[in-house]
Amino acid sequence: MYRYVQSLTLLRKIFVPTVLVIFLAAALPPYFLWFLGELVSCVDDAACTVQHNILGWGLVFPLTVSTLLTLTVFAMLLRIGAWMLFELSGQWSTQSIHADMMKSVFDVRTTFFDENPSGRLINRLLGDYGVLRIGGVVSLGDTTNGLAEVLCIGLLIMLANPIAGLLIIPVVMLYVALQLQLAPMLSHSREIRAVKIGEALHRETDLIEGRTIFRLYNKQKNLLDRIHKPYGDSLNIQLFLNAWGMLWMGMISAGYAVIVYAFLIYGLHAGLISTVLAAVIITAVFNLNSVFFGLAWDMSFLGETASHARRAFYMIDLPKETEEESRIGRTGGPAESELSGDIVFEHYSMSYRHDSPLILDDLSLRILEGKKVGIVGRTGAGKSSLMQALFRMVYHYDGDIRVGSQSIFDVDIHSVRRQFGVGPQDPYLFSGSIRFNLAGELSDVSDDRLREVLRVVGLDVDLDANVLEGGRDYSVGERQLLCIARLILLDKQYILMDEPTSSLDRKSDEKMQRLMNTVLADKTVITIAHRLESLERYDLILEMADGHLLRQGAPVEMMSVLRKQSVA
Ligand SMILES: Nc1ncnc2c1ncn2[C@@H]1O[C@H](COP(=O)(O)OP(=O)(O)O)[C@@H](O)[C@H]1O
Ligand SMILES: [Mg+2]
Repeated sequence: MYRYVQSLTLLRKIFVPTVLVIFLAAALPPYFLWFLGELVSCVDDAACTVQHNILGWGLVFPLTVSTLLTLTVFAMLLRIGAWMLFELSGQWSTQSIHADMMKSVFDVRTTFFDENPSGRLINRLLGDYGVLRIGGVVSLGDTTNGLAEVLCIGLLIMLANPIAGLLIIPVVMLYVALQLQLAPMLSHSREIRAVKIGEALHRETDLIEGRTIFRLYNKQKNLLDRIHKPYGDSLNIQLFLNAWGMLWMGMISAGYAVIVYAFLIYGLHAGLISTVLAAVIITAVFNLNSVFFGLAWDMSFLGETASHARRAFYMIDLPKETEEESRIGRTGGPAESELSGDIVFEHYSMSYRHDSPLILDDLSLRILEGKKVGIVGRTGAGKSSLMQALFRMVYHYDGDIRVGSQSIFDVDIHSVRRQFGVGPQDPYLFSGSIRFNLAGELSDVSDDRLREVLRVVGLDVDLDANVLEGGRDYSVGERQLLCIARLILLDKQYILMDEPTSSLDRKSDEKMQRLMNTVLADKTVITIAHRLESLERYDLILEMADGHLLRQGAPVEMMSVLRKQSVA
């Protein structure tokens, strides 16, 4: 539905006004060509028209020339006006399409990104937008312009001489026939080219993301070859496309010229048309010829633009996470400001997509408010899935998750997420200052408070110290502590951490644990850890296996159980 509304908006906002303006602009030059022809033919025609008899030749000539000049300039200005109108409205409408695309991508489920590698997404968001923004606007304008010119020239020749005007019919038929052949071929090759470029882009993103690995294995050359090939292919397709297109165009022109000249020779011979009219027709026809030439290209570009527009609308129409989040189909009611109480999973089952196997299956557990709970288990046990379930990022198949007495599925998704502070596995800092990284969107935090929190986590850095993108100029330990500082400032009641210490040395790990029992003492903290030692001071350890809760107990108990297991 949205797609059609958008198309209509496009049509109404840019197509119709532009057709009108361009039609006018296109009509003027051929009209004056014809007008001039009529006047000149008056010179040796005794029974000539009004202009000659009333004004006399001495006046008609300069008047015609100056009118012609003025109107040519006027027509040119009109064309520029039309172009600008097109440009502005194109910019406006494509920008809103782009904004809708971006918004839609923010609102889709996270699994969408598993299925669409970043290269493909970048290609879609930037490529489709680029084509719509530039190619689309220009080709739409040019096509309209071409069609208007053909129509005007046909009409004018028809006015001058109805028989000559009939010429336009076989020509248009020929054009349509060729266009029908040409258009699918052109758009098909363009599609192939787009796919090839997409492939190259995808690999480029691989290169950007994985450059360290490629360097490590000294495989840059292989990768560069793999990138260059699709680019080369896409260029070849373009060359082929040009040559092939030129051939078809040449055929249209030649066929067209043969018909016109045959008619003119016959017309002159039989006395159906005057030599002057023949000259005018030839001039107009030259114009028409180049118009046809351009039209074929423009139409094929228009086809290409349409396919990009379809993809852009596909992006906009992607199902949003709230639309396909749950089999149960509950709708989030009004958002409650703060949730409080124990976190309870009650026969909860989830998968990543509605049609994929269950990952957490009939999981029941309780995390008491204010306690520190560690989650352990082998890789693939479902630990991270449990966190994602709390964030409602997965497909809810059955059961419930409650915080206190409130089911998280009965409130709006964003207010659920607002309840949790998250400590990441790979702590990421943004380029800017330490102050910017700490305070983020919190606007009302004083520098004193920021320094205090830095002191609490035991970091000795200046608030104005510079940070490179990703935080490359800080050690993992420092980055992790900065992330903890960020969490303390955010002051959420529930804190989720997915393997926050996996890349930390023993000492930083201990520092983190101490913070759990001091500054974060009253918070509910859920930590996934791969080392049980990182959870020594926690209140409870849950061990997961295959999406179930395998066992739970205090750290000491669990350690002895696990130790016995590894000995056995
Ligand atoms: N985005 C995803 N799409 C589909 N399956 C996934 C996705 N993420 C994880 N899984 C699957 O869910 C299971 C549990 O994974 P996960 O919760 O990440 O385990 P853990 O964090 O304990 O290592 C694994 O079998 C994994 O393959
Ligand atoms: Mg995990």
